[in-house]
Amino acid sequence: MILLKSLQEIAKMEKANRIVAEILEGVKEKVQPGIETRELDELAEEMCRQRQVQPAFKGYRGYPRSICVSVNEEVVHGIPGPRRLKAGDLVSLDFGVKYDGYYGDAAITVGVGAVSEKAQALMAATEKSLYAGIAGVKAGKRLSDISHAVQTVVEDAGFVVIREFVGHGIGRSLHEDPQIPNFGPPDRGPTMQVGMTFAIEPMASMGAWQVRILRDGWTAVTQDGSCAAHFEHSVALTENGVLILSRL
Ligand code: MF3
Ligand code: CO
Repeated sequence: MILLKSLQEIAKMEKANRIVAEILEGVKEKVQPGIETRELDELAEEMCRQRQVQPAFKGYRGYPRSICVSVNEEVVHGIPGPRRLKAGDLVSLDFGVKYDGYYGDAAITVGVGAVSEKAQALMAATEKSLYAGIAGVKAGKRLSDISHAVQTVVEDAGFVVIREFVGHGIGRSLHEDPQIPNFGPPDRGPTMQVGMTFAIEPMASMGAWQVRILRDGWTAVTQDGSCAAHFEHSVALTENGVLILSRL
């Protein structure tokens, strides 16, 4: 069941998501060669404390930290720890909060120092696919129009879509119906309506789309070790069209 949100609810979600965007921006500024990924988690925690918001991921199904930091072949759910970032790494930062009863969720991928042209192209295509997916959010259109738009952009750029993880509804829960795959034919699934709120989150790889989970039980890596990128926004479908909630 897809829960529709009132304007008041969307306003609360906008606050939660703006805080997510602020904290991601703060963490992004700290990404540099030599930093340990756990230092990024500590910063995210500190920024949550200052703003009196609850990190959404810590404790979610036993996830042990506040932010996900996924490096190179890690696609999503990388657990911050003593790993030091180095120049040329691709780092995906995925972060969420709960504020006033509502969740915010967003992700970005950034390069550490100078990164290869191919890595830049992967990041650009993945981010572009996110905006193409967001542009597919229209009342009266069907959900898989988002999926199809994402897939088209990623594949036209010569990359592949990760299939095991999907976008999702968001609101009073971090994950609500519907699931939003990042691939598929257009014009399938539920019809989109004003009041729906989605977290759209394309993940793309330079090589294999298949993933495996490391022994930590969380970190998803590409099976062939190729680099991946991940971008996510939470959005709301309003009378005036789609509204990106998770931006500054
Ligand atoms: N953005 C991811 C998602 O929506 C983050 C979840 S990480 C977890 O699924 F630790 F909370 F699982
Ligand atoms: Co999400």
